[in-house]
Amino acid sequence: MAKVTMTVNGRTMSAEAEGRTLLSDFLRQGLGLTGTHVGCDTSQCGACTVHVDGLAVKSCSVLAQDVAGAAVTTIEGMANPDGSLSTLQQAFQDHHGLQCGFCTPGMVMSAAALLAENAAPTEAEVRHHLEGNICRCTGYHNIVKAVLAASGQDVGKIGIAAE
Ligand code: FES
Ligand code: FES
Repeated sequence: MAKVTMTVNGRTMSAEAEGRTLLSDFLRQGLGLTGTHVGCDTSQCGACTVHVDGLAVKSCSVLAQDVAGAAVTTIEGMANPDGSLSTLQQAFQDHHGLQCGFCTPGMVMSAAALLAENAAPTEAEVRHHLEGNICRCTGYHNIVKAVLAASGQDVGKIGIAAE
């Protein structure tokens, strides 16, 4: 075990971690940030997506010790400073971009990374970007809608047939 320190959601945080401890487990069990979900633990579902130094990363595919000293953002860090929902989070709520909600933290983190590099993505670009995030409730249509709405685009034309 070794003490691992990183900046999480703007705060310096530390916890003990084994060499094999995944970042997802470190965040959830070491730091108590259970908003990062673990769906598969095999880098397939995207539920565990966080940002590491500004890049979207599946936290079950990274060792905590390997990102010591990095700046990590989790879903807990996505709200506005006053605690209100961010524009992207609000869009997920407004456009019913979640059903059971299990995939939602990863979807929001992946979408936020996309919008940070592409402020006005097309529907195809959003769908392509979210390919690594699986929603078992098959709610992709409204998730895509939410991401486009968050970027200020008219979502009226998105057809259900595109699901
Ligand atoms: S839990 Fe990490 S990709 Fe599924
Ligand atoms: S809302 Fe249930 S898995 Fe996506």
